[in-house]
Amino acid sequence: MNNSPQRYTITAALPYTNGPIHIGHLAGVYVPADIYARYLRMHGQDVAFVCGSDEHGVPITIKAKKEGVSPQDIVDKYDAIIKKSFKDFGVSFDNYSRTSAEVHHDTASDFFKSMYENGKFIEETTKQLYDEKAGQFLADRFVTGTCPKCGNEEAYGDQCESCGTSLNATDLINPKSAITGATPTLKETRHWFLPLDQYEDWLKEWILEGHKADWKTNVYGQVKSWIDDGLRARAVTRDLDWGIPVPVEGAEGKVLYVWFDAPIGYISSTKEWAAHEGKDWEPYWKDENTKLVHFIGKDNIVFHCIIFPTMLKAHGDYILPDNVPANEFLNLEGKKLSTSKNWAVWLHEYLEDFPNQQDVLRYALTANAPETKDNDFTWKDFQARNNNELVAIFGNFINRVVVLTNKYYDGIVPEPNVYSEVDEATIAELKAYPAVIASSIEKYRFREAQAELMNLARLGNKYLADEEPWKLIKTDEERVKTVMYVALQIASALATLSEPFLPFTSVKLKGILKITDAVENQGEKEPQWDKIATKRSLLPAGHQIGKAELLFSKIEDSEIEKQLEKLEATKTANAAENQKVEPQKEIANFDDFTKMDLRVGTIIEAHKMPKTKKLLVLKVDTGLDKRTVVSGIAEHFSPEDIIGKKVTVLANLAPRKLRGVESEGMILMTENAGGKLVFVNPDEDGVENGTTIN
Ligand code: 2FM
Ligand code: ZN
Repeated sequence: MNNSPQRYTITAALPYTNGPIHIGHLAGVYVPADIYARYLRMHGQDVAFVCGSDEHGVPITIKAKKEGVSPQDIVDKYDAIIKKSFKDFGVSFDNYSRTSAEVHHDTASDFFKSMYENGKFIEETTKQLYDEKAGQFLADRFVTGTCPKCGNEEAYGDQCESCGTSLNATDLINPKSAITGATPTLKETRHWFLPLDQYEDWLKEWILEGHKADWKTNVYGQVKSWIDDGLRARAVTRDLDWGIPVPVEGAEGKVLYVWFDAPIGYISSTKEWAAHEGKDWEPYWKDENTKLVHFIGKDNIVFHCIIFPTMLKAHGDYILPDNVPANEFLNLEGKKLSTSKNWAVWLHEYLEDFPNQQDVLRYALTANAPETKDNDFTWKDFQARNNNELVAIFGNFINRVVVLTNKYYDGIVPEPNVYSEVDEATIAELKAYPAVIASSIEKYRFREAQAELMNLARLGNKYLADEEPWKLIKTDEERVKTVMYVALQIASALATLSEPFLPFTSVKLKGILKITDAVENQGEKEPQWDKIATKRSLLPAGHQIGKAELLFSKIEDSEIEKQLEKLEATKTANAAENQKVEPQKEIANFDDFTKMDLRVGTIIEAHKMPKTKKLLVLKVDTGLDKRTVVSGIAEHFSPEDIIGKKVTVLANLAPRKLRGVESEGMILMTENAGGKLVFVNPDEDGVENGTTIN
């Protein structure tokens, strides 16, 4: 790294305070962000690493309603749990704030006002989804429906989490209120819109031309496809009572859209930190020489790569992100992590079950990080990473070095003699590691970087195994001094290079090796990281080290079984929940029913909709005609298995376009006890296509 100090503003996605932190959040956002921040600080960079609780938005209101408490109760509860678990886990935020903080309300209001006064919004009265029963407009997570882009039937009013597309609530097909289950009506309301379409050319130039080479391909690819599809204006205000009031006249009862206020939370958190530290916050957000880096999960890409940058650009006073190294998703034991289904390893529970083993989780999550594709966390892999790598390689090497140094030299680093060819080669290899690890970190490839750290421990292990000082001591004491000296240099390098990845281990190892600041600096300014390559001696001869202590301990099968049993219990509870019969819907009168034209049909052709995971394009013989029906069942059936299948079709459903293909009807489906989709099947002999169902 170029060591001329550079300013960095590093942000980690503000977690919603509707639940605790789980391993998916850690692997996707907080562990990589922390590795990066720690690495930069070790290089003397000027870093503001900020985060905070995202306390507005619909998920919090929904949770509060469900639990019969106020949204404030919910955010207070989870803010405390989240903050404590981050602290105990060792995430080195410079500041962790809350979007309920006064500084944030002021900052977000001022941001909006400035854009408003400069004419950056479009003010418009439009028809929005409304739940008559609840007496409330439905936006964001208050409404679910089918994504017009990918067919996901559980898309939200502002985003489909399956394909990442940002939506307007009125885009949803078959919208349904998340409050009452009712089908919404349309009602007029006035809102402020961010005209993203006006920024399309600028976004093309800034991202598609400017960041093709340095942004991750998963991020760049998503952004490109959205921009290529064309952008539309997005409302940045909502008819809700939980959030930051819209700070203009005539906007009573309206609040800022949570995705308008939340990213401004990064700015507020920086302000809070700077005030606390007696610093000026502005260079961290306004100086062109500052590098702004957003760590996020893939569901946040649209907000951090398109919407927030457009807000920053439209406002005009702020810098833009230099990079947005978003990760894909982590699954747990083969299934999608889910806060609402309790399918998760919760950080605060992990910290209780595995006390003082923060680094084991950090290590396992980084080793398996979903950097380029979704990945799976399994407890068996976690155990193997600990037992076969941290214990058997890293811990074993350090233990041998420290035990032998104490045994042979009372813990004093010996004076080396002449280096053999093997010593020279080993030292040359050692000196190459800092640059190799640094280069991977600077490219946001943290798995690769950590794998190299473990390779350095492997180098040390192999060196000792080949040189066998425990045998040599009987025949060549002088040679053993050189071997132990070289091994101690590797141990010292591991203490330094492990700091971003395994911060607790690094501190412990420095304690064992008695590496104090004075030993590290030796009066020089160069970062210790870089000195590994340049200095002859990291731990000089004559230096006294401490006694051996275990860095890592074996995780027994019984501990893993306990965790697996916990997950089994969750599965059982979820299955019981799924078995619950949904309450009967509102009474439908006979006319309502007869309006629906339900027919028997046969699937005669089927193929996958290109570039989607969920959609099949079917040709159905309805007896009336042979028509196209697009159905979101591709994850449950392959096309060849359903050709010839008799199905129930809602024939007079208004046609709609999915991915440009017009769908003329709907196939009726239900779920079996295992959660698999099955056809509502009129497969009786002699039932002809076109037969009506009544
Ligand atoms: O997805 C989430 O959990 C959001 N609360 C992330 C917000 S990031 C930011 F913009 F604040
Ligand atoms: Zn979608």
